[in-house]
Amino acid sequence: MKKKKSIQDFYTMKEKGEQITYITSYDYPTATFAERAGIDMILVGDSLGMCVYGYEGTMPVIMDQMIWHTEAVRRGAPNTFVIGDMPFLSYQTTDAAAVENAGRFYKEARVDCVKLEGGVRVASKIKAIVEAGMLVMGHIGLTPQSSSQLGGFKAQGRTLDSAKAQVEDALAVQEAGAGMILLEAIPPEVSGYIRDTLTIPVLSIGAGPYCDGQLLIVSDMLGVFEAFTPKFVKRYAEVAKICTDALTNYVEDVRAKKFPEPKHIYPMIPEELAKFKEWTASQKKKK
Ligand code: KIV
Repeated sequence: MKKKKSIQDFYTMKEKGEQITYITSYDYPTATFAERAGIDMILVGDSLGMCVYGYEGTMPVIMDQMIWHTEAVRRGAPNTFVIGDMPFLSYQTTDAAAVENAGRFYKEARVDCVKLEGGVRVASKIKAIVEAGMLVMGHIGLTPQSSSQLGGFKAQGRTLDSAKAQVEDALAVQEAGAGMILLEAIPPEVSGYIRDTLTIPVLSIGAGPYCDGQLLIVSDMLGVFEAFTPKFVKRYAEVAKICTDALTNYVEDVRAKKFPEPKHIYPMIPEELAKFKEWTASQKKKK
């Protein structure tokens, strides 16, 4: 059986220069596939708003949805480090709200860590959650929950001022007590500097190769989510095509009466079938 990794294992991996593998998952089957593949950590991301619910962004996602999906992922991947992603307005309002909602992930969905977006401005929330005894992953760079302030889903840290702001945010996240940090869509020079400066593991999604590990959105890398594909995604499968082809074949088979075949039915017990035929014949005679 796979041994579940802990935060200490991730620190050791950083020290040894071993890459941490990280993927999102939103449901039981995908979580079982990820665990079977030996993935180190799973994020139940609020990207499920787009990838599962078809919303335009992550803003409408609520805590209850996150809990339901995280429970399913935990059942599918009992031996994998699972991170619950705190949705919009589950932590921004007060430190107390942040602790309560992080606690829901722990109590109801048995996560190993929670993730929240932002640097300097959410430092007090990270500190409060950590002081309550929970583990936090920070998330800076392109932070989808503040995409309206960022002017859209845009890469960050591409100018000196913006790069310095990323470094400042990363340091604030570590200082607040986060155990790990995720950098999204920032240039490799900046993420490499942050990786070398921080003592905590630094994960990348679209932040280049000089980090302690890599995250991809499962629906992007499997080719399930078709609305758009960010530049940093590598496609490992074309699942939308496989599913559409299978469904098209099913529709054709049913219309052509090629499905179901004899092997797909439940036959009656032979003696009972004989009696049933007698009975239907007697019914016809009555008419
Ligand atoms: O919700 C999510 O999947 C995320 C990633 C975009 C990092 O937060």
